[in-house]
Amino acid sequence: MNILVIGSGGREHALAWKIAQSPLVTRLICAPGNAGMAEVAACVPLDPSDHDAVVALARAEDAGLVVIGPEQPLIEGLADRLEAEGFLTFGPSKVAAQLEGSKAFTKELCRKMEISTAAYEQFSDAEAAKDYLRTQKMPIVIKADGIAAGKGVIIAETLDEAKAAVDEMFGGKFGEAGASIVIEEFMEGEEASFFALTDGAGILPLATAQDHKRVGEGDVGPNTGGMGAYSPAPVMTEEMIAATMTRIIEPTVRGLADAGIPYRGVLYAGLMITDEGPKLIEYNARFGDPETQVMMPRLTSDLVPVLLEIAKGELSATALDWTDDAAVTVVMASNGYPGSYEKGTVIEGVKEATDQTGAVVFHAGTGTKDGKLVATGGRVLNVTARGASVTEAIETAYQAVDHINWPGGFCRRDIGWRALEREAAPSLD
Ligand code: AMP
Ligand code: GLY
Repeated sequence: MNILVIGSGGREHALAWKIAQSPLVTRLICAPGNAGMAEVAACVPLDPSDHDAVVALARAEDAGLVVIGPEQPLIEGLADRLEAEGFLTFGPSKVAAQLEGSKAFTKELCRKMEISTAAYEQFSDAEAAKDYLRTQKMPIVIKADGIAAGKGVIIAETLDEAKAAVDEMFGGKFGEAGASIVIEEFMEGEEASFFALTDGAGILPLATAQDHKRVGEGDVGPNTGGMGAYSPAPVMTEEMIAATMTRIIEPTVRGLADAGIPYRGVLYAGLMITDEGPKLIEYNARFGDPETQVMMPRLTSDLVPVLLEIAKGELSATALDWTDDAAVTVVMASNGYPGSYEKGTVIEGVKEATDQTGAVVFHAGTGTKDGKLVATGGRVLNVTARGASVTEAIETAYQAVDHINWPGGFCRRDIGWRALEREAAPSLD
């Protein structure tokens, strides 16, 4: 079968790398892809928001399955369009993708289904929002309703800060995304990511992971798309996973199905592990980036049959096989990221990194110029390693990083610190 993967990030490279290992695949095509994906697939330049072009490519390539990586094309209805054109598609419909596209949609579902999450109220008027703030405990969280590239969340420590955040959001800083806001209770705890596949009825839990969202070591500084990750997340014990399934994932799938919105794809639950157990921070309608880069190397089952079952709405698999190994990925980003950065800087040593350490390097913003590998984006490489423990995986990942010669880029040196501390001193848990 021919499979088409839409996207060009580290997440899509990890998916393509895994899919390419399946004996079911005759030809793998990635659009637009990147320099790393070109090693496992045929890459075709294309803008995923141009749905006509995606359909034309799927037809030209006789795609038996289309896998949509990023959220934007899902929110814009690419899965609906491909399905209408007769292509089996992995990824939720436009309506179902509101789970990521609209915080208010998700919060309403949470209220209806009594899903474990932070208490909240929604406002479309600044004065009403401020009146509500005066009755609440600080810190408090203020969110723009729509997609604001992960930047539409402000945690206010004081009432004054909270009021200023409300003015800022209604003042147009987040454009359309800020036309409506959600104010929610601040949840204290450790964050983790949980993934499950669903065809709208059946649910197949995947794995857990933790990422590092801040740009600086010690988890400080501005938010990014993610500077590194590891899987499994030690904070996600069997008990926490079971609680996440019954209190969050199962009622979500049921609630959507009851509303006539079957969700077919991956549910990515961003969780806060609090004293009261797991609570939902947010949903994404796609795989995590960089969490996918640590989940795929741990997955020993073939991914393609389950993607096909989900796309058909006929999920029968009840479990997948995973190695007990831990996996860690270190993101290498262009100097200046998440602010402005130079494009086109030359990267050397990726082959040495993989040959000498056994690590896998998933590409994100890369391309080739004059036969050389160059950076084309903010997040550029995901240097990924497995190990019997997180400690071992981290060691290998950084050995691989040290083979890479890229003066135009940087990485955090402390990826996995929480898990490392846990392994070094398990009795303190
Ligand atoms: P979101 O865009 O909803 O994922 O939020 C971005 C980040 O803000 C999350 O990863 C959390 O670190 C933090 N955050 C969001 N909502 C809350 C909350 N209710 N309590 C505490 N932290 C939160
Ligand atoms: N790891 C963060 C994200 O995928 O949104």
